[in-house]
Amino acid sequence: MSKSPWHVNILTLFPEMFPGSLGQSLSGKALEKGLWSYDTVNMRDFGHGVHKAVDDTPFGGGAGMVLRADVLEDALLSLPHKAAKNIYMSPRGKPLTQNKVTELTKIPEITILCGRYEGVDQRLLDAHNFEEVSIGDYVLSGGEPAAIILMDACIRLLDGVMGNTQTPDEESFSNGLLEYPHYTKPASWTDSSGAQHDVPEVLTSGHHKKIAQWRKERSEAITKQNRPDLWEIHKNKEKSL
Ligand code: ADE
Repeated sequence: MSKSPWHVNILTLFPEMFPGSLGQSLSGKALEKGLWSYDTVNMRDFGHGVHKAVDDTPFGGGAGMVLRADVLEDALLSLPHKAAKNIYMSPRGKPLTQNKVTELTKIPEITILCGRYEGVDQRLLDAHNFEEVSIGDYVLSGGEPAAIILMDACIRLLDGVMGNTQTPDEESFSNGLLEYPHYTKPASWTDSSGAQHDVPEVLTSGHHKKIAQWRKERSEAITKQNRPDLWEIHKNKEKSL
């Protein structure tokens, strides 16, 4: 049984990295309220010998150390029950997208394996059906910050976490486009160099249709400029409608 509507088991060599930023702000309050929960398993506790070794040299040679399948399996099987999904944070994984995040929030219990060193013995990933997930095309020193990012993106979507004032419907990626720019008071602002910046006139017009049209145009222009890959997909989708 999960301890909350959304539970995450984290296999790590650095359990003190959790909850980290997830203990603050929106996710921190949600944790206190029991809207989500987590457990860490320290893989070191299952290490071998006096030094509690968790890794060894790679077969075939090469630099670095590889986390052992037997050690990681013992850590995994120490969980009270099997999660519906096993995820391994890795730069080699499928990219984490907003669709993937939404999908993960629908699974009540997931287990995340955080790697260190050169990687993890492939046999462990195969034997326990780990899905590899990447948070971007760069290499971190370990999977823990990546796990925190994945969890953060999921937690804010859980029921009861965001109040009515914040809605995910209009944010970036919800319609395949990046979000339009925002403005607030004062309507006219003079910066430290003396230059005056006025809010785009349409936003103070009260004309809802024109505002929606302006926002759509800005969204499209920003997506085109910053993410030509997303723009290409969006254009083709509109064409096929
Ligand atoms: N571990 C190291 N780099 C990573 C990345 N880019 N995404 C997920 N896990 C990682």
